Formats: sequence, C-alpha cells, structure tokens
Amino acid sequence: MPAPVTGIVLGSGLGLLAEAVEVRREVTFGKAGLPTSGVPGHAGKFVFGMLGGAPVVLMHGRVHLYEGHSPRQVTAGVRWMAEQGIRHLILTNAAGSLNPHFAPGTWMMLADHLNLTASSPLQGAEFVDLTDAYDPRWRAGFRAAAATQGMPLHEGVYAGLRGPHFETSAEIRMLRTLGADAVGMSTVLETTQARALGLRVAAFSCLTNWAAGMAAAALDHHAVLATGMHAAPAMLRLLTACADGPEPPPSGR
Ligand code: HPA
Repeated sequence: MPAPVTGIVLGSGLGLLAEAVEVRREVTFGKAGLPTSGVPGHAGKFVFGMLGGAPVVLMHGRVHLYEGHSPRQVTAGVRWMAEQGIRHLILTNAAGSLNPHFAPGTWMMLADHLNLTASSPLQGAEFVDLTDAYDPRWRAGFRAAAATQGMPLHEGVYAGLRGPHFETSAEIRMLRTLGADAVGMSTVLETTQARALGLRVAAFSCLTNWAAGMAAAALDHHAVLATGMHAAPAMLRLLTACADGPEPPPSGR
C-alpha cells in the first residue's frame, strides 16, 4: 500500500467511519508508543487503508488532557502519523452547540478555534503562525462536496477546553460572547501540532447537544455517543469525497 496521504482522527461515537475503510494494516496505540484512552467510544489503534481511492490512516480513539495526559502525549498520534508520511489531517470531534442556528445532529466545519486549555504541545521557540489554521482551500472543497451531497454543513468557531466536566451556563454565555459556535475537549492542540509540522488541517464537530443552559435536557456522555453514531454516515460520505486533500476531487466522483 502507498504511504497514507491523509490522517483522520475519529472523535467520540464516530468509530463507524473505520468500517468504510478497506483495511490493510492495524497498529495499536501501544505498539506506536502512545498512551491508551480509557474513555468509552475511543478505541486505541491506527487503521491503514483506502478511503475513496486515497491511502489514509485512521486514528481510532484519542487521548485527552482531561485523562491526565500532557499536551505532548495528546498530540503524539499526530506526530506519529506525520512520520508515516501524511500531508493532510482531518480531525473529528463531538461538541456542544452554542449557536441557535446549529441544531444537534448536524455537523460544523471548523473555520477557526479558541484554545482555552492554557497549554500548547509545542516546546521552545516554535512560533507557529495559526492564521488560517484550517486550510481555506480544503474547506472550500468540503463545502462544495457537502452541497453536492445535500448535506447541511455549518461553519464556525470551536472553543477547546480541558474538561472533563461540561460547562456552566455562565461559561457558555461567556464563550458565546467570545465568538464560539461550538465547545468541546479536544482538537485545538492537535491542530497546533499539525500546523507546526506543516500539515494541512480540516476539522469537523459533530454537534451532539445544545450547550449548558440552552435546553431543558441534562448533558450526558451516552447521549453524546448516540448522536455521534447517528450523524456519522453523512460525514463518511463527505470524507470519502475529499480524503485526498485540498486539491479539488476529479469530476465524476
Ligand atoms: N461541552 C463540552 N464538550 C462536549 C460537549 C459539551 O457540551 N458535547 C460534546 N462534547
């Protein structure tokens, strides 16, 4: 199999995406020297295979700051996939919606992020430019593919917090004032690491719930996973169309 061109990190409840890949090889997190995640819905392996004609590697499961891992450990998978040869990285996550127009069960493509973890995976004088961290050309490709497929795809700002608790209603009001459309507990450090390595990045939030204070229902992790599983097939079609990176897909796909 050719070296993977695109790495895809699967967030909570999105493991279904792994089933669409023609699997050629698997490497456990342990074998790759990564810590394993104890969170339900997060397996711990890399899956090499073909998706929509592109060689890809899926990172099935991730590790989080809230499990006590360091920013370096949280981003070790991104560095490992870069060593395997990827040039492009797609990050997926589950997130709460802060935008009244972005209903749970739909997807938001990240236009930008707020790193509110007060940490960075970079060490020393790595002054990485994070302007357009989420590749504008690739985003245009995803937008076009979503329109072709009739898939609703929002675009907005993701606030990345440490967790593991969900936010208070006051924190959600604060995040809205800061310009966030979605809130979650991952992705921002991985994007930072990927940009430092020169990878092109795209990221997608599966909006699994209204953020705290926006709906009557209490937040719970199982509901997050269930909504993620429901929304996964649409994302799978989108990724299949654009898995080979920012270049427009050949017509007829
Ligand atoms: N807040 C933070 N992280 C999340 C949420 C949320 O509401 N939903 C899914 N991940």
